[in-house]
Amino acid sequence: MSGPDEWSANANKAVTISLIQQGAAAPLEIANFCPKFTYPIFGQEEQIFGYQNLSIHLRFTAHDLLPNLEVTWDQKFKTIGDVKADDIEGTLRDWLSPSMSRFVLETRGLANLIHQAAFGKTLSYLSDIQDDGAGDLFKPPGEKITSYKIKDQRFEVWRGRLVDPAVRRILGRIQIFIPFFIEGGSFLNLEEQEFSLERWSIFFLYEKLSHKPLPHSSTYSFIGYSTAYRYYFYDQDTPQTLTLTTSKAYPKQAPFDFILPIQTPPHHPSRERISQFLILPPYQSQGHGSRFYGALVKDFLANPIIKEITVEDPNEAFDDLRDFCDLKRLRENGTFEHIKINTNLSMPRHGKLPTSKIIDKALLQQQRIHNKIAPRQFDRLVEMHLLSTVS
Ligand code: ACO
Repeated sequence: MSGPDEWSANANKAVTISLIQQGAAAPLEIANFCPKFTYPIFGQEEQIFGYQNLSIHLRFTAHDLLPNLEVTWDQKFKTIGDVKADDIEGTLRDWLSPSMSRFVLETRGLANLIHQAAFGKTLSYLSDIQDDGAGDLFKPPGEKITSYKIKDQRFEVWRGRLVDPAVRRILGRIQIFIPFFIEGGSFLNLEEQEFSLERWSIFFLYEKLSHKPLPHSSTYSFIGYSTAYRYYFYDQDTPQTLTLTTSKAYPKQAPFDFILPIQTPPHHPSRERISQFLILPPYQSQGHGSRFYGALVKDFLANPIIKEITVEDPNEAFDDLRDFCDLKRLRENGTFEHIKINTNLSMPRHGKLPTSKIIDKALLQQQRIHNKIAPRQFDRLVEMHLLSTVS
């Protein structure tokens, strides 16, 4: 009898994700990559037991991210006593079916949990997307807020609101990317009441192709996305009583951590918090993250309601990206020209030299507020800048 290793597969390698272009010809695979993490789904060891030559293939159409799952294997472990093969279909169903079950029904692919015996379902997905003329007309949901070029390729940033069903449909399809790529990230509850959905902005990054790769295919191809939500912001200079009259659900006087809906009157200050930020692996380290983050920040800076931009639980990679982009922005907009250290000071014999003597703290605060950066991040940036000027 063969050993258990023969029946175990590394889940990070067994799962393949691909983006495909639909159109009036055989679908074209334009990207193919593996997840970074699978432990939230398949357990700490990231192993799947009970199959030989296991392949779990998740396909998404590149424009509207219609998903399809295909699971194949050469041999499945015969149940011996309590030992049986892992239930891949059952495990994935929990993750692939977002809380909004009606979205699952809408997506032809998610219902197609198949294995060898029912291979026809993937064939029907592939032929469905081949016949789908709607790709021609597809536009990302929401409104286009900016675009940029890298060499000859053009990329567009679109901003939508979670109250928009078209935004929720796409987000419902790609939430599986959170456990795959963002450690500690959590799913958005797409079934929340409108009041809660209103607080979320969703940003999509797409490549805009100059020509259709296939007849009737879309010219949009998904690169990444980000979510952000709006908090109430305590501001000493602004009256603090919220008198929101649009719904009885809103409290008259908001607590400090109150999460604001998007449609608040313009004078109510708020804090925008970037929650999830993802560039798909094939497109990483090419400057998309920096440009996409820059587009979000520019959008927040232009909005007078937003007083501060924060990030929820950034990881090291995101911290690097944010530091790099924020530092570049503050250098370019002249912020650091205002900030000077007083070098004509002698250290006191006892005790510490107060920071206020070294640097003008009121000026620092003014610059921080002007740039809408949270206190800790602004202090870090000033420190990084000052260190970089030490010769
Ligand atoms: N000079 C020097 N360094 C630069 C420059 C420059 N001109 N421009 C960018 N940087 C650096 C960054 O430090 C970083 O270094 P590396 O790629 O060499 O390791 C890199 O360049 C990042 O730049 P981009 O190419 O613009 O970023 P990318 O498109 O790779 O996006 C991101 C970065 C978002 C972290 C991406 O890798 C990703 O999505 N990872 C998986 C998901 C993730 O971790 N998301 C963040 C979770 S935290 C949250 O969601 C709030």
